[in-house]
Order: sequence, then C-alpha cells, then structure tokens
Amino acid sequence: MDYELMHKDIPVAVLKLSTRYNITLIDKIMDVAAPEHLPIGTTQSSSLKCNPSKLEGWLNERSIPKERSGLTKFIENVGLPYPNQLLLDSLGLSLSDQYWMRPAGSGIAWRDVNFFQNGFSGDLGDILLGIVKRVNGARSKPFFSPDSSSSGMLPKRWIICEGRRVLMKGGKLPYFQEPQNEAIASKVMESLGIQHVHYEFTVIGGKRYSLCETFVDTDTDFVSAFYIADRLYGMPLNASRKYDFFIGRCEKLGITGAREALDRIFIIDFILFNTDRHFNNFGAVRNADTLEWKGFSPVFDTGNCLWNERGTDNIFVREIGECKPFRKDFRKQLLHVNDFSWIDIDKLKIIPDQIASMFIPTELITPSRIDKIRQALAWRVQFLENAILHPELLREKSRSGRRSGPRVR
Ligand SMILES: Nc1ncnc2c1ncn2[C@@H]1O[C@H](COP(=O)(O)OP(=O)(O)O)[C@@H](O)[C@H]1O
Ligand SMILES: [Mg+2]
Repeated sequence: MDYELMHKDIPVAVLKLSTRYNITLIDKIMDVAAPEHLPIGTTQSSSLKCNPSKLEGWLNERSIPKERSGLTKFIENVGLPYPNQLLLDSLGLSLSDQYWMRPAGSGIAWRDVNFFQNGFSGDLGDILLGIVKRVNGARSKPFFSPDSSSSGMLPKRWIICEGRRVLMKGGKLPYFQEPQNEAIASKVMESLGIQHVHYEFTVIGGKRYSLCETFVDTDTDFVSAFYIADRLYGMPLNASRKYDFFIGRCEKLGITGAREALDRIFIIDFILFNTDRHFNNFGAVRNADTLEWKGFSPVFDTGNCLWNERGTDNIFVREIGECKPFRKDFRKQLLHVNDFSWIDIDKLKIIPDQIASMFIPTELITPSRIDKIRQALAWRVQFLENAILHPELLREKSRSGRRSGPRVR
C-alpha cells in the first residue's frame, strides 16, 4: 500500500509499504518531496539523501517494542494486531513528534487527526495497562491511539486530563518502585534547578502509576539522542571518545547547550543511581515547521533509579555502580562533567533525607529498604561533594569496583 510520510501537513516522501506479520517493509521510495523534513537519522550521514534501511528502521522503531511488558501475551493469545500494524491503524501519529503516515490519495488533513488536538481511543491503553484482560473477538474498529507509537518497556498509556495529554506509566517487578522514583526524581531536579518533566505519583484501582504531561506541543518534535547520533552509526568503540562524538553530532546539527544539559543528566543520574539513561532516554526538541533546534529536552524517564531492581540486601552503600550512555562506570561518566559550579552543595546534602521522607512505604518498599536507600544516597552525595571540591580525585585510578573514588569522611 502507498503511504505519504507526513510532517504535519508537509508531504515528505511517498513510500510503498508492505507489512509482514511483525515488520513493515519499505518496498520502494517513490518520491522524496521534502528531504530536509526527513526524520533525523534517516538520511545518508553526509547528505540529505534518504537512506532506505535507516528509514525502515525508524518506522519499525516507532511501533510499541515487541518486548513491552504483557504485549506478546496479547498478540499470541487474544489476537491483538502486531505493533507495526497497530502503528499504521493510528496513522503513525504520536504525542512526542509531528510525523505521521497518510494513506496516499486520502487527502487527510493533520489538524483533523493529530492527537494533540483530537481525541483518541482508550481501548488499547486499557489492554496495555492490563485493565482489560481480553480483546473480545475481532476488533470492530481499529485502535486509534497514541499508545500505538509509544516506546519503552514499562506498561504505559496516554490519557487526556482536563485537555492535557498525560503519559501514565506503571512499574515493574520486583518492587514496582518506578512510579514513586519518577516523582521523587522530579522533586530532586526541581531543588537542584535542573530542567525536567514534572511527574506525579498516583494510585488508581490499587495500582501505582506516574503521570507526566507531554513536553511536546503541536509546534515541536522530540528527537532522541539515538537519532541525533545518527543511530549511533560511526560511534567510536573507545568509551572516552563517545561523548566527544555525540557533542560533535550536536554541533553539526546546530543543537546548542548539549554540554550543559549532559552535565545535569550525569549529575542527577549519579546521585540517584539511575542505571538506564540509554540513547532513547534523552534528546533534543526542534520546531517542526522551521526545523530550528530549541535545545535539549527537559529530563524525563529517570524511574530506573534508587536501586529499583535490587533486593534490599544487595544495595551496597559504597558501590559506585554501572551507568549509561557514554561510560559504564559512574565515576568515569562524571569525568565528562564540564562545570559543577551550578550545584548548590547545601541542597545536595539534604537530598538523602528528603528522598527518604518522600517515599510512601508499601508492602514491598519497606521502611528498612527506604533507610538502606537513604544510606546509599548519603554516600553518593558525599562522593559528589568531594568530587566537586577536589575534581582531581575523580581521576584517581579506582582500586577495586565497590570502593573506588574520593575518600568519604
Ligand atoms: N513527557 C513526555 N512527552 C513527550 N514524549 C515523551 C514523554 N515521556 C516519554 N516520552 C516518549 O515516550 C518514550 C517512552 O517513555 P519513557 O518514559 O522513556 O518510558 P520507559 O520508562 O518505558 O522507557 C520516550 O522515549 C519518549 O520518546
Ligand atoms: Mg525510556
């Protein structure tokens, strides 16, 4: 079938698509009318010429990941269409950018279908959050929902709340700590003056969720670092050069403020022990009409932190830990921080107690777990304070894994 790849009302390219059961293939690119509007990371590295395999990757990566919690069960047992088919049912529309797929010849206008200004079905969201356990028989009409294009592994759905588009995210085993973590991380970033997406913690029907509003509007696109870094194509294997490679890509595209934004990401991730800052968990925002970059996005998806995946006995107070995206070792990632001067040390010092008091204990998140987290945070905050006051200590060779870094008084 022929589709127009659209950017709002701009026809970007005409594509002949065919869907196999779980993949969409671009059989032919028939015309590229607006190459400058092609999604970032889908052109040849040195020109605006469309790269068909990168574009095909982009299209398939836009679907719900097959590994999303609970999805396979629905596909196999109850006849939910494959994620790539769900995506085309929803015209590929999203609440994170302004791209979509218009059936050729349909003449549909963006203002009549985009999810920022139009309603959408909640049926797919009910299924993805496990609120509805079965798809009853064949679907009478396709799911038309931004949930068809949401990425990430946690159960999630979009809802409309007093006209605002809000992302509702659940948690995962073993502690279902992520929704609380998002709200806590959001408060800590507020106290340190880090531009962030605001998350609220809520309990609905006995289940815990975080809620945050989209940071994108009808004028803007979020572009993840994965695409800014040209799908990581050409990324050096040498860990210490990955950061420079990424900064180089930002400079080439004209994205300003990358060093400052990354400094803040490295610091918050270090403090909170966020282990999941991969290249799709940060990025930049641009104007979808003018293609002008507006800078880095506010920090989002910090929920994989505060030892969320660790049993309480495995939270080690003096463990530096492994991180993403540029270095594996948190201490080494701190070496890329250009400027510590914006950090208010008095505010830093109170973070462990602040966080301990923000946790709402549950049957799994017990007071003793919260206290262990507080102790581990106190060590990290002290480590960071020492690093700020004596940056040369960061360069000291780590002795062995758990006890590396500046001495803590
Ligand atoms: N507030 C938001 N506004 C717009 N897009 C968002 C927002 N939060 C997340 N996204 C988009 O949705 C994707 C999945 O959300 P994320 O919070 O990263 O989920 P997960 O925890 O499952 O990885 C992100 O990679 C980003 O593209
Ligand atoms: Mg994510």
